[in-house]
Amino acid sequence: MSELSRIGVAIDSDLLKKFDDLIGNRGYTNRSEAFRDLIRDELVEKAWESPEANVVGTVTLVYDHHVRLLSEKLTSLQHDYHRAILSTLHVHLDHDNCLEVLVVRGKAATVKKVADALISTKGVKHGRLTITTSGAELK
Ligand code: NI
Repeated sequence: MSELSRIGVAIDSDLLKKFDDLIGNRGYTNRSEAFRDLIRDELVEKAWESPEANVVGTVTLVYDHHVRLLSEKLTSLQHDYHRAILSTLHVHLDHDNCLEVLVVRGKAATVKKVADALISTKGVKHGRLTITTSGAELK
């Protein structure tokens, strides 16, 4: 672990109260960890801005498998980008709807491309790319 630095932050009292309420509701027991998480979140977002950055994320899709050729199209797209897709989880939510979660890894530009292609496929009811990190560059 790298050396710990202590910093003082001047902050408006009302803003601090709102911050304390927010982090309290989220289960943080101290400000330092909440503050570190905010910084890490910004660093992860920043990393994804570089097209060549190696990133990790998940793509969540909800779709009706009765829509003609939709399952085939989604599977075909996943094969086109098989190097970027590490694993998929498929849940049959009800008689019609499927939920898929894909773990994706690779260059940010490629991962965004595969996510956009899947999410924008006609018939997908909802889709979202969640960006995260391998954690290797974060303390
Ligand atoms: Ni299904």
